[in-house]
Amino acid sequence: MAFTVAIDGPAAAGKGTISRAVATHFGFAHLDTGLLYRATGRKTLDGTEPVAAALGLEASDLEADNLRSPDVAQAASRVAAIPEVRAALLDFQRAFARRDGGAVLDGRDIGTVICPEAEVKLFVTATDDVRAMRRFRELEGKGFETSFDEVLADLRARDARDSARSAAPLKPADEAVLLDTSEMGIDDAVAAAIAQVTGRF
Ligand code: C5P
Repeated sequence: MAFTVAIDGPAAAGKGTISRAVATHFGFAHLDTGLLYRATGRKTLDGTEPVAAALGLEASDLEADNLRSPDVAQAASRVAAIPEVRAALLDFQRAFARRDGGAVLDGRDIGTVICPEAEVKLFVTATDDVRAMRRFRELEGKGFETSFDEVLADLRARDARDSARSAAPLKPADEAVLLDTSEMGIDDAVAAAIAQVTGRF
């Protein structure tokens, strides 16, 4: 049986952690759709044309080094604004969403474009400062040399580009449940997300 949990929201709001925890809790498959755009963006940094990069994506590209780097994040958000890139990645995501046994997908357009029929839709947010601090600590922990201000500027630039684009912009689906994690620890955020799914599968 197909059962889809769509988790959308801006960068570093906690979508990834929440999605993985929900998937583990219910035994669902999980797809971090940002990785598809990051892998595509990364190839463009090597000179590949964006649409060719998206069409030629292979599973091993999702394991490339440095997909989490700030440069790749910006490249991802640039290629993500190209409608042909999004079209090239659509069928894979739709099939994943409706696979047997349940799936959690996190991204920007899961509840609006990839799987409007998703049984559960969450829109996870947090203030800019909270998100930037979380991402700054994460990047620092991975050894990237960066500053809080740089990370904040990077998040704001990506959110602005992701929200303003005409192809599948970042916005909550009409029926999405909003989850503001600004003042929540991760355990409470995960519990709130799990509560939205419990009893519906
Ligand atoms: O979620 P993450 O920060 O890894 O995503 C990287 C970029 O990929 C985002 O800034 C956004 O531009 C793009 N993206 C998207 N649609 C998705 C997932 C990610 O446009 N479903």
